[in-house]
Amino acid sequence: MKIFLDTADIDEIRRAAEAGLIDGVTTNPSLMAKVGGDRDPTELFLDICETVDGPVSAEVIAIDAEGMIEQGGRLAKIHDNIVIKVPLTEAGLRACRSLSNDGIRVNVTLCFSPTQAHLAAKAGAAYISPFIGRIEDISGDGMELISQIRMIYDNYDIETEILAASIRHPQHMVQALLIGADCGTLPPKVLYQLLKHPLTDRGLDGFLADWKSLGRDL
Ligand code: E4P
Repeated sequence: MKIFLDTADIDEIRRAAEAGLIDGVTTNPSLMAKVGGDRDPTELFLDICETVDGPVSAEVIAIDAEGMIEQGGRLAKIHDNIVIKVPLTEAGLRACRSLSNDGIRVNVTLCFSPTQAHLAAKAGAAYISPFIGRIEDISGDGMELISQIRMIYDNYDIETEILAASIRHPQHMVQALLIGADCGTLPPKVLYQLLKHPLTDRGLDGFLADWKSLGRDL
């Protein structure tokens, strides 16, 4: 399963990329707003693309298809790693069809139902982003949605990749791995939670203490 970092924070992206922990990055307008307006968005996307060797999702902000196609076309020219993110609306699917016909990879975002995921695939989406955490915020079952999409895509040999999004804690990731999502995107905090275990820390402390008692260097 590919792991994407869900942030526009270049320091976090550099740290995770240098550790070999991530296969790409996803951003959205809220994540861009979080890093502030000091940087030109085009330059920031380029910087991200040069930092991580994999897909980097950049989201359009137009809400009409023509606007999305125009913005998507411009964003795609920044770097080969750019994937255009469009919302799962009628205009978004029209833009998805047009951009993918032009050879541009599209990530259809804000997916909350299996039928939406099916339609995005038919529109040529390279990735579909179902938002697990936000479904649970309204007492729905985010993992059930991932399972249903997996089953539908497998039934019809659909190649669109399931990008489990809005992952809020490690158990979301475990479930997405077990279901067979193709990718998961996580905030930095959750990424590092995935690799921490108290028994690892305790075990390492014990090994180092025992070695110290040898009184020898290595
Ligand atoms: C996905 O592409 C989104 O950027 C993200 O996963 C949304 O997560 P949130 O619901 O925690 O904001």
